[in-house]
Amino acid sequence: MKAAVIKETAPAERRVALVPEAVARLRPAGIEVLVERGAGEGAWLPDAAYADAGAAIVGAEEAYDRADVILTVTRPPAAMVPRLRAGQAVIGMLAPLTDPDLAARLAARGVTAVSLDGLPRTLSRAQPMDALTSQANVAGYKAALVAAAAFGRFFPLLITAAGTARPARVLVLGAGVAGLQAIGTARRLGAVVSGYDVRPAAKGEVESLGATFVELATSVTAAGEGGYARELTEAERRAQQEELAGQIARHDVVITTAQVPGRRPPLLVTEDTVKAMTAGSVIVDMGASPLGGNVSGSRPGETVITGNGVTIIGADNLAATVPTAASNAYSRNISAVLLHMTADGVLAVDTGDEIQAGVVITHDGQVVHPGVAALLAEAEPQPADGGAHVGGTTD
Ligand code: NAI
Repeated sequence: MKAAVIKETAPAERRVALVPEAVARLRPAGIEVLVERGAGEGAWLPDAAYADAGAAIVGAEEAYDRADVILTVTRPPAAMVPRLRAGQAVIGMLAPLTDPDLAARLAARGVTAVSLDGLPRTLSRAQPMDALTSQANVAGYKAALVAAAAFGRFFPLLITAAGTARPARVLVLGAGVAGLQAIGTARRLGAVVSGYDVRPAAKGEVESLGATFVELATSVTAAGEGGYARELTEAERRAQQEELAGQIARHDVVITTAQVPGRRPPLLVTEDTVKAMTAGSVIVDMGASPLGGNVSGSRPGETVITGNGVTIIGADNLAATVPTAASNAYSRNISAVLLHMTADGVLAVDTGDEIQAGVVITHDGQVVHPGVAALLAEAEPQPADGGAHVGGTTD
C-alpha cells in the first residue's frame, strides 16, 4: 500500500501529516511512503530527511495518482478533490461536522474519508490516535506564550534593585486539554493563575496544576456526553457572562478555550466585559472563528486593540505555529490510525469496529458516519447549484 504525504495548503498551515521517523515504522505493515516535494518544509523537515528514512519524494500530481491513501493534517486542497479516484482513501482532520459538503463530494467520488476528529476519545486504546488532544496540547502551550509576549509587564514576580514587579494574574476560561496546558504553561512562567470550566471534573484538574478554580455563585454545571460540555441555555449563558465579568475585570490576562462539539463556541466575554478591563490587559481567544468566538470583537488570525487599550488576539490555529512539535505528535496519531486500519498490507474498513465507526466518514460511495449523514440530510432542500454552502457549525 502506498501512502502519500501531501503539502498542506491552508493559509498559515505549517504542519505535515507524517514526520520522517514514521516512514520506517510503517514499512513492516507493508506501507510505502511517498512525500510531496517540500511537504515538511514548514515544520523544518527537509525532503532529504524523508528520503534518508526511505520515502520517495514526488511531485503533487504523482502523489495523488500513485497513492492508495492520502495523508493530510487538515482538508485536502479543494483543487485536488477532483483528482481523487474511487477506492482511494484520505485520512486527516477533515472537520466533517463543520464541512459536510466535503464528505458528500468524497462519497460521490467513491473515496474513503477517515477523519481523526471523529475518534471516540474516552476509549483508552484510541488514545495514541487522539489528534484533537495532541494538537490542543500544543495550542494551549502556545496560547500562554502568545499572551505573555503581548503583555506589557512580566508574568512572574520579579524583585530587582529597580523595584518589585507583581506577577500577572491570568484567567483561563475552559479547562479542557488546551486550557489545562495553558494553565500549566502560565504557571511555569510565574503568573498567578485561575481556571474555570462548566464541567465539575475540571476543578480538581485545575487545582492539581497549582491554579485556583473559579466558582460561580450561579454554579452552572454542564457535563455533557463523552466527557464534553453541553451547550448552555440562554438563561444560563447570561448568568454566566454576568458573573464572569467581575472575575475577568480582576485579571490582567484572559485565555479562552471553551468549545462545545458541533456548536458555535460559547460567548464568555461580552463587549461590556471587555470595556471594564484595564488598559494593557490581554485576551487570547482560542475559540475565535468566522462565526464568532468566546470573546466579543475577536477576529480569527487577527489582533485587535480596543479603544480602552485591551489587546484581543484571535488565535484560531495555534498548533500550526509550533509546527515541529505539532507534526511530531500528529504523525504518531495518524500512523496509529493507519496501522489500526491496515490488514495484510491493505486498508481494511470495518465500521463494526468502535474506533473505525467514529473515524470513517465515507466508504463505498456512501456517507457512513451517522452524524455527518444527518447534517447532509438536513441541508438537502437547498439548491444543489454548488453555490450554497452548508458548512459552519449549526446552532
Ligand atoms: P473542548 O475543546 O470541546 O472544550 C474545551 C473546554 O471548554 C472543555 O473543558 C469544556 O468543558 C469547556 N466549556 C465548554 N463550554 C463552556 C462554557 N460555557 N464555559 C466554560 N467552559 C466551557 O474539549 P477538550 O479539551 O477537547 O476535552 C474536554 C474533556 O473531554 C477533557 O477535559 C476530558 O474530560 C475529555 N476527554 C477525555 C479524554 C480521555 O478520556 N482520554 C481525551 C480527551 C478529552
